[in-house]
Amino acid sequence: MPTGLRSPTITGRTVDYALTAQRGKVDIGGQVVPTWLFNDTVPGPLRATQGDRLRVVVRNQIPESTTVHWHGIALVNPMDGVPDVTQPPIDTGASFTYDYVLPDAGTYWFHPHSGLQLDHGLYAPLIVEDPNEPLGYDQEWVLVLDDWTDGIGPSPEGIDRALREGKGNADSGGMDMGSGSGGTPGMGHGSMGGMGGGSGIEASDKAMAKPGALGGDWNYPAYLSARALSVTHADGFPVRPVTVDQLVIGMGERYDVLITAGDGNFSFNALPDGKPGGARGVLSTGSGTTPPLPTAAPIGRTLAYADLQPSEAAQLPTKKVDQTVNIALTGTMKPYVWTIDGKPYDPNRRIAIDAGKRIRLVFANSTMMWHPMHLHGHTFALPAANGVRKDTVIVAPMSHLAVDFDADNPGAWMIHCHNTYHVAAGMMAIMAYAK
Ligand code: C2O
Ligand code: CU
Repeated sequence: MPTGLRSPTITGRTVDYALTAQRGKVDIGGQVVPTWLFNDTVPGPLRATQGDRLRVVVRNQIPESTTVHWHGIALVNPMDGVPDVTQPPIDTGASFTYDYVLPDAGTYWFHPHSGLQLDHGLYAPLIVEDPNEPLGYDQEWVLVLDDWTDGIGPSPEGIDRALREGKGNADSGGMDMGSGSGGTPGMGHGSMGGMGGGSGIEASDKAMAKPGALGGDWNYPAYLSARALSVTHADGFPVRPVTVDQLVIGMGERYDVLITAGDGNFSFNALPDGKPGGARGVLSTGSGTTPPLPTAAPIGRTLAYADLQPSEAAQLPTKKVDQTVNIALTGTMKPYVWTIDGKPYDPNRRIAIDAGKRIRLVFANSTMMWHPMHLHGHTFALPAANGVRKDTVIVAPMSHLAVDFDADNPGAWMIHCHNTYHVAAGMMAIMAYAK
C-alpha cells in the first residue's frame, strides 16, 4: 500500500450502472431548462464500496462524441476517460463500458472530458463507501454546487465564444445547489439565484453533508457556509476533523463535513466569489424562520488548506523527493489564452516522470486568475498543508504551490485547470511515465 489508503482488498462484488448522455430538461430553481444530462436527470450519486468492481455502460445520445472521466479515482489508465489519450471517443449512437476496481473510499464525481459538455448538465457524484466507516452519523446529504448557465444565461458555447472574442466574463445565470439524500436516486434542486428556498429535507438531529463544487464555468471559487462545519475529508481522503464556518471550494474539489442540526432551520449558503447572487439548501428539523442569504463572503472562520491534517491512514509515507517538475500556469484574459508552460494543449507533448519515484510538481501561477489544478490517476500530498491528500488544488494568482505523489500508477495522465473555459483555451497537458 504505497500511497496510504489504497487497499488491495477486492470485495468480489460488481456494481452495475447504465448512463445515457442525452438531451433532456432539468428544473433549476423552478425554471425548467433544456440541457444535456445523464439519464434525463441530474442524477443522484452512483454508489459503491471500496474494493467493488464498478461497471458502467455509457451510451452517447448527444450530438458530439464524448467520454466519462472518474475524477479523483486512482483507476487503471485505460478506464480514465480521456478521448484520444486513454480511449477512442464514444461517437454519437455508440457506447463504451467502464469497468474497474475502486481502490479508495471517498467522495468523487464524474463528467465527460470533451469540450464544454461538463458545463451542460453532464456530471454526478460517485460515493465510494468505506467498508469500515469510522464516523457515526444519522443521515447523509450530498450537495453539488454548480454555477448553472445552460438554458438560463448564455449557453456554454456562447460563453466560450464571448470570452475568445474578448468580451470579458460572460455572466452566467445563477447558482444552483442540488441535493440528494442518502440512497435516493435523482437529485432535487434546492434553490438558486439568491432566493431562499426549502429543500424539503427532513432530518433527525445529525446529518452528513458532502459538498463539492462541480461546475466549471466561473472563474472564481465559491464559498459554502453553515454553522459549525466539521470537516472530515478533503477530496475523499480523511483528515483530522477541523471546525470552520466556511469552505472555499474550487471547481472539482470535494469536502465531507459533519454537522449537528439541532431544532429549526439549518441553511447551507453558497456564494460565488466576485459576483452577486447565491444559492442555499435548507435542512429543516422543526419550525422557525431561515435567516436571509448573506450577501458577501467570507463569513466567520474560513478553511485554509493549512488547517487540514491528513488522518494517519491518509498520510503519504515519508520519503525524499526524487524528481521535481515545474509547471508554469500561464495565460491572459485578453486575448483569452490559458496555457501550461506557455504552450496550449498539445496531444503530442509529454511531461515525463519516472515510475516508482516520489514526484514533486511545483505549480507557479504567473497569472491574475485562480486555477484549480487537477491531476488524474493520483492523489497528491500538499507539503505546505501538513501533507493533506487532494487531487484538485486551488493555485491562487501570482503564487506557487507544491504537491507530492508516488509514481505508482503507470500511464498517460492529464494535468489541467478545472475551469472548463481555461481547459478549452488550452490549459491542459499530459504527464506520462517514461518507459
Ligand atoms: Cu474532473 Cu480532467 O477532470
Ligand atoms: Cu484556470
